Amino acid sequence: MKNHFLHICDYSKDELWNNLNLARELKTKFHNREDYKPFKDQSLAMIFAKPSARTRISFETGFAWMGGHALYLGPQDIGIGKREAVKDIARVVSGYNDMIMARLFEHKHMLELAEYSTSPVINGLTDYNHPCQIMADMLTIWEHRGNLDELKITYMGDGNNIVHSWLQLASVFPMHFVFCGPSGYEPDKKTVSMVQDSGVSTFELSHDPASAVDGADVVYTDVWASMGQKEEAEEREKIFSDFQVNEALMEKTGKDSIFLHCLPAERGREVTDGVMEADYSVVFDEAENRMHAQNAIMVTLNKFS
Ligand code: CP
Ligand code: NVA
Repeated sequence: MKNHFLHICDYSKDELWNNLNLARELKTKFHNREDYKPFKDQSLAMIFAKPSARTRISFETGFAWMGGHALYLGPQDIGIGKREAVKDIARVVSGYNDMIMARLFEHKHMLELAEYSTSPVINGLTDYNHPCQIMADMLTIWEHRGNLDELKITYMGDGNNIVHSWLQLASVFPMHFVFCGPSGYEPDKKTVSMVQDSGVSTFELSHDPASAVDGADVVYTDVWASMGQKEEAEEREKIFSDFQVNEALMEKTGKDSIFLHCLPAERGREVTDGVMEADYSVVFDEAENRMHAQNAIMVTLNKFS
């Protein structure tokens, strides 16, 4: 499904590189406030079944800069899959709009939206994955490290949507990916198998934070309770407490590593204030890069529309 952006692994390594190169080009254009209007007279529908700061702001700002108009449709507006069937909304919305970005609970709803939409669909997060985030993460690592060769990425915490997108990336883009978290909270087995079967990257499952971060180029974490799981937050805080990214753990990398977090962060839980504010933390560059990476994705998809 090349006319949508649903999973990183729908793209080849070369296509991902094209996207990263374009993202850098568009970032420079944006910073120079160059006139760049590939979406003149076009509209982007942004469907949100869950809350958002970065995704909503970066898509709306990026699309407006590129000459288009973006509509915010919040959780109360559409009731996708509840008030109205996903396949009906897909045809209605794509009848008005040139592109759709959606943040949904169920991944199968994202697939259905894409199947029935006559406009390109961009996955802005589901319970299963978050591909736009990982494009921005790659861009950030590339900018700070100068290359993406022989990367060791250590992810600490919950085996959630962010991890699944990292694994999908690892199935097409070489790296050593370490997942370190408590037993029972590992990522989806089929998605782990994708990496193992691809022969592209190596995957390591760890329950020991100190050895997991040893030699890591990137230490990454995310909330211990994702959207839709917030009622489990207190219980999870106890289960995950040994997997906090703190200053002592960052020292154990033994390397000039960087720290990434997709945000929003719950300071004092999965990450300390000290790590968030440290020089090695590049989380705000990462957040800004959401917009540039997504602008590149939208420009690439526009060619197919
Ligand atoms: N990282 C991210 O997707 O942030 P939001 O939930 O604020 O959009
Ligand atoms: N895992 C988090 C990511 C937020 C961007 C969540 O789904 O809430």
